[in-house]
Amino acid sequence: MYAHELRNSYIKFFVDRGHREIPSSSIIPENDSSVLFTTAGMHPLVPYLLGEKHPLGKKLVDFQKCLRTDDIDEVSDASHLTFFQMLGNWSLGDYFKRESITMSHEFLTDVLKIPQEKIFVTVFAGDDSVPRDDESAEIWRGLGYRDDQIFYFGKKENWWGPAGLTGPCGPDTEIFYDTGKDKCSDGCSPACNCGKYVEIWNNVFMEYTKNSDGSFSKMPIKNVDTGLGLERVLSVINGAPSVFDTDLFAPIIEKIEALTGVKYAEDTLTQYRIVADHVRAATFVLGDDKGVAPANVDQGYIVRRLIRRAYRFLVQMNAPPQTMSKVAEVIIDNYCDVYPELARNREFVVKQLNREEEIFSRTLEQGLKIATKYMENIGEDKLLNAEIAFKLYDTFGFPLELTQELAEEKGIKVDIAGFRALFAAHQEKSRAGAAQKFKGGLADSSEETTKLHTATHLLNAALRKVLGDSVSQRGSNITPERLRFDFSFDRKVTPEELREVENIVNLAINAGIDVVREEMSVERAKASGAVGVFTDKYDEIVKVYTVEGYSAEICGGPHVSNTAELGAFKIQKEESSSAGVRRIKAVLK
Ligand code: ALA
Repeated sequence: MYAHELRNSYIKFFVDRGHREIPSSSIIPENDSSVLFTTAGMHPLVPYLLGEKHPLGKKLVDFQKCLRTDDIDEVSDASHLTFFQMLGNWSLGDYFKRESITMSHEFLTDVLKIPQEKIFVTVFAGDDSVPRDDESAEIWRGLGYRDDQIFYFGKKENWWGPAGLTGPCGPDTEIFYDTGKDKCSDGCSPACNCGKYVEIWNNVFMEYTKNSDGSFSKMPIKNVDTGLGLERVLSVINGAPSVFDTDLFAPIIEKIEALTGVKYAEDTLTQYRIVADHVRAATFVLGDDKGVAPANVDQGYIVRRLIRRAYRFLVQMNAPPQTMSKVAEVIIDNYCDVYPELARNREFVVKQLNREEEIFSRTLEQGLKIATKYMENIGEDKLLNAEIAFKLYDTFGFPLELTQELAEEKGIKVDIAGFRALFAAHQEKSRAGAAQKFKGGLADSSEETTKLHTATHLLNAALRKVLGDSVSQRGSNITPERLRFDFSFDRKVTPEELREVENIVNLAINAGIDVVREEMSVERAKASGAVGVFTDKYDEIVKVYTVEGYSAEICGGPHVSNTAELGAFKIQKEESSSAGVRRIKAVLK
């Protein structure tokens, strides 16, 4: 089976069972400061999982581009990736455990024809605050699963979420595929990492929300959130040795072979897989409509890490210059049917990859020499001192993780605490930024963030009025204290212009205008002049929030009901964010 067949049959299976298909969201979360990337299909749905009504109803299905860096060290084994596609189906207060488990079972065994004896499941064992999930186990048994196919685990294994620090979460039942490998000697079960059992699907029964004090409360509605890893399932049903041996990676690997002249074989497998995974991930982050260029903080730092790590392995393979961008072009060609944004952003992707390669190629060799010199003369404690790690970072552009990896290859550890202290001393400012970043988030629909969200719409509209229609949103990040808004504009905004923008927003606030929420087709929203991220699906229904006379914007909400609730709007700072993008920070007083 090919990837597109799997994707389509999943969507069709759930659409046939009353679900509506929703589009894949950006890989960069909107209005959410609690996580850097979309890590699961549920992430853009957080407001709806918390009870906000979804315009398409209570049963949804989609595929979502996701990025997780937690497993980066596992990349090159059979099943781990940084970028992956998650197929998911949701019940927002509609069906619950029985229907969810039964549909998963039917899709796997009837549609994908996975033999039932190859399927193993885990359920929540219960703890002090939430009881054991006997109901799910009973449903699995009712479908013919033997007791030895059902495992019970605690919160560490069988509890999912929240995606950030607070928000919807709950016990889950996870579905594993038995690869047929021998059991390991370490009490082999789906909870171990030996590779016998591969997790393919997770069904989360989201009845709870985690509060900022760490406690859990029951939510007013019971949701189901599921996620099935497209790449993993594809490799499993095709009997492929790994996720890399599927049609999703074949053209990438062929291109690397053609450019380097090195064969994809047992002894080059690790390098190949890391390069293929990292270049694919970087291509998706750069190629998003909210694409982020390599940088030293936030998403930009992760892209930089991925690109530099891939480049280091390519150098080992004697790859010619610009191999990464040529591989990225193959990725764009092969994925743009499903993700048209990649084609739209092709130039940006190619340019950024070449630029980052060019910068790092100037220092990599010398940095490696210095690293080797220090590592060869390492003391008995086998600890690389923090000054060297920081010098490699600061002067030679080695992400800390790269230095750690080089050190590890020689059995050496890096003084991480020391590195962080030096880093903090040099970066007082960005440290304060990082602390801020993890406040707020989509799950935070507090009064403050809701107000700032409405203020962001007014700001967006006022900027367009003062600076012209070329202004478009490039990013938004809201914490309870402030809003941060990035927009396309190619020069500094003058103090007079900023005052004018501020005045317009305050006029809208002082006029006490109702914020009206309407649902309409994308086509109508476009025709009515609403701004926002338009998807490629014209029949989709979207929510438009309007402040009559000022702003109309496609958005998931939530918002205040009248602008008078906002108080006084004040711009605190205007600065450059990246080439052609300006950033404004503002508060409500
Ligand atoms: N949100 C769940 C997961 O990512 C389905 O595993």
